[in-house]
Amino acid sequence: MSNIKAVFVGTGMIGAGLAANAMLNGYETVLYDVVPQEKMEANIRHIMDILVEAGAATRQQADDALAACQYSNDLEQAVQGADFIQECIPERLELKKSTYATIQKVTGPDAIICSSTSKLFPTKLQEGALYPQSILVGHPYNPSYLLPLIELCGGEQTSPQTIEKAKEIYTGMGKVAVVCQKEIYGFIVNRLSWAALEAAKECVRDGVCTVEDMDKAIMFGPGMRMAVTGQLLTISLGVDGGFRNIAEKYGEEPTPWNEVYAQGVDQEIANRDPSMGNTVDEVCKFRDRAFAELLKLHKLL
Ligand SMILES: NC(=O)c1ccc[n+]([C@@H]2O[C@H](COP(=O)([O-])OP(=O)(O)OC[C@H]3O[C@@H](n4cnc5c(N)ncnc54)[C@H](O)[C@@H]3O)[C@@H](O)[C@H]2O)c1
Repeated sequence: MSNIKAVFVGTGMIGAGLAANAMLNGYETVLYDVVPQEKMEANIRHIMDILVEAGAATRQQADDALAACQYSNDLEQAVQGADFIQECIPERLELKKSTYATIQKVTGPDAIICSSTSKLFPTKLQEGALYPQSILVGHPYNPSYLLPLIELCGGEQTSPQTIEKAKEIYTGMGKVAVVCQKEIYGFIVNRLSWAALEAAKECVRDGVCTVEDMDKAIMFGPGMRMAVTGQLLTISLGVDGGFRNIAEKYGEEPTPWNEVYAQGVDQEIANRDPSMGNTVDEVCKFRDRAFAELLKLHKLL
């Protein structure tokens, strides 16, 4: 998507990271913050340097993007003509809501406002707004400049068109947007990672393993699999016939949910980029190539 004007309101850890993605993907990008412009520039330069050092952008791409970036300490001026606003200010409900009121007086209903909030629900964020239908959560994952995940979550008043538009805009920034269909604490994935963190700490406390062995166990086992094929596809690949045969294979009680998971996995495989495999065999080959690359990075191959 080109011709998108993206404004990042709050340019700390999360805002500067996402702004770098927008800039490198050709969006007209404005950084707004209450701190002086020099501070904003220093933050975004720092992120670009990291991306260049990591090999995620060339020095030329980073310099061109930085040269085109705009900065503002005037919110009303910053959001003039914006298509997309990513709000990345501190986690305070009233501050976020009053910021949206200022923005929407200028933009009207057409610009979408995505909040980076980790904990506030979109229905609360859009309460009393001029155009609640255009407000939703677009929750990134740290480090936001490299991890593609964005969890979209609409509130009771968010329109389906807003969710679709947000998805398109994030895709154009190189992100991978998934939809959290319910307002639930931790959205989709933090509940999973919090549960893993608690289980890991418990193992250490109970003397099951050291901290180092806990991390190695995750990195060289389930973590490698999850990085390449997620959770449900990973489990499905481990059983001939996938979820349709899982109860029989493991001697579990059959449940109708296994057919639901199986159909979801079928859909997931069909939707993959063809270069990553659209059959179980092809997906396994892709997975194995990816494992070999990961092992090389870890000096195990
Ligand atoms: N840090 C994370 O790992 C993480 C991950 C996902 C989501 N989030 C969410 O992202 C949001 C921002 O978090 P962060 O870690 O980037 O915080 P941060 O403290 O690094 O950055 C906040 C920025 O907002 C600016 N700011 C403060 N008041 C402002 C105002 N009134 N108008 C404009 N800018 C203002 C600050 O100057 C600062 O640059 C929070 O809602 C947080 O929950 C954080």
